[in-house]
Amino acid sequence: LKRIGILTSGGDAPGMNAAVRAATRCAIYRGLEVIGIRRGFEGLLESDVIPLTSRSVGGIIHRGGTILRTARSERFKKPEGQVEALDRLKELDLDGLILVGGEGTFKGAWALYKKGFPVVGVPGTIDNDIAGTDVTIGFDTAVNTALDAVRKLRDTASSHDRLFIVEVMGRNSGFLASAVALASGAEYVLVPEIPSDVEKLCEKLYNARRQGKTHSLIIVAEGAMSARDLAAKLKDTAGYEARVTVLGHIQRGGSPTAFDATLASRMGAHAVKALLEGQSGIMTGSLWGQMVAHPLPVAWEEKKPLSDEVLSLMEMLSI
Ligand code: F6P
Repeated sequence: LKRIGILTSGGDAPGMNAAVRAATRCAIYRGLEVIGIRRGFEGLLESDVIPLTSRSVGGIIHRGGTILRTARSERFKKPEGQVEALDRLKELDLDGLILVGGEGTFKGAWALYKKGFPVVGVPGTIDNDIAGTDVTIGFDTAVNTALDAVRKLRDTASSHDRLFIVEVMGRNSGFLASAVALASGAEYVLVPEIPSDVEKLCEKLYNARRQGKTHSLIIVAEGAMSARDLAAKLKDTAGYEARVTVLGHIQRGGSPTAFDATLASRMGAHAVKALLEGQSGIMTGSLWGQMVAHPLPVAWEEKKPLSDEVLSLMEMLSI
């Protein structure tokens, strides 16, 4: 192994830069040359690359987004695109590739691995919807960003005796929503993993009012329902007036938390170690605080369950 490439792909996540920095420096430390591929698979197809040096990845550990930029490439999803990408990797004289991203990125990495190219995936997504790792890079920061917003909304909700609905991201999973709900002390959380029962929610809201609650916060995962639809349903079902906030892409930005910068540094380093040991077609993970590696398909073939303990705690704490 002499020369490796690094790319970030799919939705950006805070901590991606810390992973790029760690992988670059660990690779250089072990005598490798490193090339950064810009704009994910899209940039790979166009050979849009920059050399990465110890200095060029300086001053980025704390920066949100990704200095390599990112894209969701439609071209690469097609078999012809994947053949073309392999040609580009060979032209660039690369012996291995580290890919930071979520499920889509890992599926792309798997396609390259199946064609014989050495790859290691590093899980970076605010959704935390990747099995094989307790947490993904960016999740902790997104939870804290959303939490900060929800705490501010709680202030105004309590001043005005209002009902607030806050929609958080997460694609088809409720990790972000349930973590934000528990940490913010929200009364209710709607997640895609559990069918939404609006009538039951209205009943709970009614009982809460009767027991003296003057305001309530509902966190809804985008994959469960939109906050606007939920507000309309609450109005239709029980006449409740709710204020709606959709947090949106603000959840993807900002400096990584200490947790994410650390996780990203460890995973970036672990990916280089794995490539040097001749491992390929794998993803790095963190289980019980230890760095581990699994075959890439674990990411999409295994379902990472939401914590029952967290959900039932939400129920108990919302009285
Ligand atoms: O996967 C990260 C994520 O932010 C999801 O939570 C969200 O559903 C999606 O990306 C939004 O994608 P885009 O930035 O392409 O609109």
